Amino acid sequence: MLRSILLTLSVLCALLAACDGQPREPGSMLAPDSILPIPGSNGCMVSYTLNVTLAYGAPSCFARPIVLTSGVFGPAIAVHQGDTLKITLVNNLPVAFPSVTDGISIHYHGLQMAGSAAYFDGMAYVSLCPVAPGKSYTYQFLVNDPPGTYLWHDHSAGFKGDGLEGPLIVYPPRLPGAPPAFPPLAVSDLWSYDGEHTLLLTDWYHASTNSLLFQLNMPFDAARVTNDTGAWSWIGMPQAILINGRGFYGDCQLFPGSGGNSAPPTCMPSTFTVPPGRSPAQPWASNNNPGCTHSQFTVEPGKTFRLRLVNAATLVFMTICFEGHNVTLIAADAIPTAPISTRCLDLNSGQRLDVLLTADQPPANYWITVAPQYRIGAPAGYAVLNYKGVNTSTFPSSPPPQPVNITPWGFAEDSLVRLSPRLLTASSDLAVNLYLSPGEATLAPPPVPTKIVLVNLSQPLLEANGQLRWALNNVAMTRNPPCVSLLSKMQKYPKFLKQMAVNASTVNGTGAGPFVGISYVKAKDKMTVYYDGISPAPLYPSVGLHLVENAGGEVVDVVVNNFPANSFNGDYRPVVGPTRTAVEQHPMHLHGHRFWVLGRGSGAFNASAHAAGLNTVNPPYRDTVTVTGGGWVYLRFKADNPGIWPFHCHLLPHVFMGQQLYFVEDIANAAPPPSKVPKCPATCQYNFAPYTKAFLRSKWGMSGWELPPLY
Ligand code: C2O
Repeated sequence: MLRSILLTLSVLCALLAACDGQPREPGSMLAPDSILPIPGSNGCMVSYTLNVTLAYGAPSCFARPIVLTSGVFGPAIAVHQGDTLKITLVNNLPVAFPSVTDGISIHYHGLQMAGSAAYFDGMAYVSLCPVAPGKSYTYQFLVNDPPGTYLWHDHSAGFKGDGLEGPLIVYPPRLPGAPPAFPPLAVSDLWSYDGEHTLLLTDWYHASTNSLLFQLNMPFDAARVTNDTGAWSWIGMPQAILINGRGFYGDCQLFPGSGGNSAPPTCMPSTFTVPPGRSPAQPWASNNNPGCTHSQFTVEPGKTFRLRLVNAATLVFMTICFEGHNVTLIAADAIPTAPISTRCLDLNSGQRLDVLLTADQPPANYWITVAPQYRIGAPAGYAVLNYKGVNTSTFPSSPPPQPVNITPWGFAEDSLVRLSPRLLTASSDLAVNLYLSPGEATLAPPPVPTKIVLVNLSQPLLEANGQLRWALNNVAMTRNPPCVSLLSKMQKYPKFLKQMAVNASTVNGTGAGPFVGISYVKAKDKMTVYYDGISPAPLYPSVGLHLVENAGGEVVDVVVNNFPANSFNGDYRPVVGPTRTAVEQHPMHLHGHRFWVLGRGSGAFNASAHAAGLNTVNPPYRDTVTVTGGGWVYLRFKADNPGIWPFHCHLLPHVFMGQQLYFVEDIANAAPPPSKVPKCPATCQYNFAPYTKAFLRSKWGMSGWELPPLY
């Protein structure tokens, strides 16, 4: 028996506000182009056009070219469970906009992309080729994922960091027999609340993300010392944290420093700017710029709101805190959790948390603070929680929440995140069953694996060309060549890549795969392939495609150990420098699946010490997990989705530097490719190309480090 409808009037108003003809606010929701009933189904075909353009904007109060989607910066798209999502991606970015790849491609982060959807998963050259400038392509697939909070983003180049991303919300299924509408009447979810807000949390740079990525491919100089004068250069700290596309780059001054220290923070506005002279087209920030405001979220006294928190950052791990209010965590990466009441929560890039907030405090304005973690000197971000009826034009009377008490969740807090008990026993509750796949009785993990994949992370400095990369099992992953869809290649020639797999001994001792340093490679050219099980991990760091095969139905355990940068012969310098032993945290994301996080800890995983402590009863079930610096994490997933599924660090510069592998899963049973596919380029840009100034100038007529003029 169906219960009362979920969507409240305030949600209805929020959604309708997007179609009133007014310019859309940052963070607003795109209204679908059309909603058509699908005969014989309770779902509808929901169509959106994502028209991707370049414009000037100043989301942080500093003007620079930004990427808009149908005129909006980072809009949300929404669909209902059981609907078919039809996304027409139109690439209207200028051809001459410097980029590390050949087009754009949209990934639906967290959706399982089962069946024929495998081809629409969106990592460029894995499922399909990217959509070139001036071209368009339509992705179309059934969404049968749990209702919850997801995100969409470019998965081809750096455009995600320039704004080509947004929340993706899956609402519960439409009420049977209800007419197609937006928003439709929907069946009820596990919780009731009076309204909702979505908070898209991003970090923001004052240079285009591609121009930052170019510098990551410069070799270290002869002394193997990084510098900013032409050799390798890290992307550095973001200049602002944006909440729904709004922030202010001076906000670090609101942040008095951690550890009880009231000294000014290390982020100084003078370091925020692109150095003068790099581009003439650099208007400076203006106090009159309408981008210079904080986002406000209005709640009505006494009512309960669902807040959908999405970390879509390029780099920054965030802790979000709510002044004066405890919130209740209800879902992590869309899957319901046992409730936890807390003032602050951690979320890493790619993770989503859903919380309930009850407006039960004296009516006022309260701060919502986003504090960066692990990146000393990164700015904080702020938004305002506004009680309806309270003047919205003033800041809260209190200073922003003091960061001295904001520390990242440790293992103790993390172990509090558990699967909701409602999903652990078979149930006839319709709301519970929204979270299960057909034929699945509960979300409890299978008790034992059929195989264990060990993944060791390190950050080699390659001898062959002086490039700094990230590696899994000593293989830094190149993206293309071949300039084709890897999935269709594997379908047509199932043995092809396996036959190409190299014997690790052929590269041991050189530290280089054969194609390191090539900027353009013809499609017919071969690529080094490491096929786990055939090619053991090389003794010296190397580069290539890194494939791990899963047979259909396997229960796969993945143990990730996060080692110091120069592990596994990963440092060719005569004297190992102090920074090369560094370790960093990484948000590891798996496409096409959710995994159970059975355990995590410090050091390397050691079965005799740690196996007995793994939680196989009610572990969190997520698609993105943090492995701490120098720590381990233990994951389990079912290989039940034929396709090719990337497993990668969700920090954009890290995946660009090779921190990923592909699970090649049950290809024999993969769905055939769609009848129309984007045209692949004859040659393609290569993420390990040495983007020297000469190369960049010859390709784009400029250094490539500059922001281009607007077209
Ligand atoms: Cu949001 Cu492959 O990632």
